[in-house]
Amino acid sequence: MKLNIAVLAGDGIGPEISEQGVAVTKAVCEKFGHEVSFTSALCGAAAIDAVGDPFPEETFQICMDADAVLFSAVGDPKFDNDPTAKVRPEQGLLAMRKKLGLFANIRPVETFDCLIHKSPLREDLVKGADFVCIRELTGGMYFGQKQEGTDYAFDTNAYSREEVERILHVAYQYARRRRKHLTVVDKANVLASSRLWRKVAQEVEKQYPTVTTDYMYVDNAAMRMIQEPRFFDVMVTENTFGDILTDEGSCITGSMGLLPSASIGESTPVFEPIHGSWPQAKGLNIANPLAQILSVAMLFEYFNLKDEGKLIRLAVQASLDANVRTPEIQVEGGEKYGTKEVGAWIVDWINRADY
Ligand code: IPM
Ligand code: MG
Repeated sequence: MKLNIAVLAGDGIGPEISEQGVAVTKAVCEKFGHEVSFTSALCGAAAIDAVGDPFPEETFQICMDADAVLFSAVGDPKFDNDPTAKVRPEQGLLAMRKKLGLFANIRPVETFDCLIHKSPLREDLVKGADFVCIRELTGGMYFGQKQEGTDYAFDTNAYSREEVERILHVAYQYARRRRKHLTVVDKANVLASSRLWRKVAQEVEKQYPTVTTDYMYVDNAAMRMIQEPRFFDVMVTENTFGDILTDEGSCITGSMGLLPSASIGESTPVFEPIHGSWPQAKGLNIANPLAQILSVAMLFEYFNLKDEGKLIRLAVQASLDANVRTPEIQVEGGEKYGTKEVGAWIVDWINRADY
């Protein structure tokens, strides 16, 4: 296969983990005989500094021309501490989602046995938890009509039937490939938008008779994720609820730094770690590259290159088992490896793998 990948490294630790993601992609492509090319583009604070726009037109074009985007992270404290800033790095992320039509954000919540002690939940509750949150990404309050005055402000949580239907189909297709259990999360006891979601879901449900569907209010879902995370298989929800629940989901595993995500929709799909740009660690070679590397696994899997994805997952597991780990997940007394060293170890493992 021929792959043209747009590389959006962004800010903070972004460029460092991006480098490792690219190296792993190259190694896998070499192993399996795929032809791959990379085109780097600016985004986030780096793009604001360079051209005054967090998602410049040129970057958009590079993304549109690519088969996939390997995204790292955006964000810079100099914008967080300035409420008067007219442009923010995060706007670049929202612009990218909207312009590429990335309406479905897929965030797997899985645990790694060797990191389970880092979970804030009791091990017996969280061990074996494995679910996917499908978050609607281009609608709802993030993009609805807004007004921002000094004494009055609002955001509109608007959804059309079409927007709800298409995300539900993505979710059902995931559920069909997994344990065939979909939880539709909404707030239909209060919100009109949620009642539309529930109505549409009850119609779409009939097209997927092999999947068991249940409906859960978002407050209850937030609670259930803590009480019984293994209950969930696939969960689907609107943009804002999904933003909140996926942070909760990633942290209960104890391995937030290891979780990748995919955003898919109308044009080029984007693969990125769930974590942010960690500006304090920039340039220190301490950031964990595993979430970025696992995003590359999701990238290959998206193109149905399952063995390629599998090899990356095995390499990551091997690095954890060999205690080749960045400082935040290293076992007591273990040697602390840098971002580059972990990446290089994984590349080497892939090169030597008998596959
Ligand atoms: C996320 C982030 C973004 C969001 C921010 C950075 C705009 O929290 O991807 O979950 O709210 O969607
Ligand atoms: Mg978020």
